[in-house]
Amino acid sequence: MRKLLLVILVLAFLAGGCQTPARDFEQVSSQEKVILKFSHVVGDNTPKGRAARRWAQLVQERSRGRVEIQVFPNSTLYKDGEELAAVQKGYVQIIAPATSKLTEFSPVWQLLDLPFYYEDIDAVHRLLDGPVGEKLKQSLFARNLLVLAYWDNGFKVMAANRPLVKVSDFRDLNFRIMNSPMLAKQFRRLGANPVAMAFSDVYSALEKGQVEGSENPPSNLYSKKFYQLQKYITLSNHGYVGYAVVVNKSQWEALDQKIRQLLLDTLQEVTIWERQEAFKQNLEDLERIRRAQGTKIIELTPEQRKEWQRILMPLREELAQEIGEDWF
Ligand code: LMR
Repeated sequence: MRKLLLVILVLAFLAGGCQTPARDFEQVSSQEKVILKFSHVVGDNTPKGRAARRWAQLVQERSRGRVEIQVFPNSTLYKDGEELAAVQKGYVQIIAPATSKLTEFSPVWQLLDLPFYYEDIDAVHRLLDGPVGEKLKQSLFARNLLVLAYWDNGFKVMAANRPLVKVSDFRDLNFRIMNSPMLAKQFRRLGANPVAMAFSDVYSALEKGQVEGSENPPSNLYSKKFYQLQKYITLSNHGYVGYAVVVNKSQWEALDQKIRQLLLDTLQEVTIWERQEAFKQNLEDLERIRRAQGTKIIELTPEQRKEWQRILMPLREELAQEIGEDWF
């Protein structure tokens, strides 16, 4: 028996080397506390804002305070145009930009900006949760960026100070867009002037009349009170806004494996919740805008919608030429 025990101990030693025994979250000192800064550009009471807080809270609880996600909403830490560089440099550990803003790094992300391309939210999820979603993630590895999850906002509506029903109604309007070449092409095709601008600058730009129109899901129009400056909203649902939860790849890989697992498991749970909440909240925020009665809500007839689609559909061909048909 002693010989057998000895053999087992030797084998165990050889197999595991001198691994330090797994430590649970109770045994860690405060010095070993892991703090992850999460910066984003929208309000707390939005699908992304609420999911960020929920993830932070669950991670705090399940790590017994060992891992703390500090959330900085409303561009308080970094605004559009800054947050990608900040996470690359490791000044902040987590961001969740709209996928449109990742077109800065790779044109393939324009796939998600294609107007009238996605039948419904399930079609978007099939793409993101499938091989294309994985390939998109790989397009950022060279930038030392890792996408951990895809969160939704929803489908965009058009808001402006004139009713937008016919394509000709867009003529010469200055339209605020996220910094994506596809969105610029979309508005040029509609006859408007696209103006790329950080989300945090939109309200004052609308107030000053620097732009007359914007596109976003209702939750962003409501939470940032853009609807108070825009008299008309057309329920076009013409394009999707979603987020990539992005971390600094080398910082992430340097994290303790147990902590990574806890963050990932909790994030997966939060992502399912976030997608359901995003769908619900956009319906509720549209009702809140409707009840506010300051903005006229316009529904397109199928014929009117067809005219928009006819004008915008060729963007799919253009993108296929730019990034290759294989993506499609
Ligand atoms: C925008 O810039 O309009 C949105 O992407 C903001 C956001 O993160 O929802």
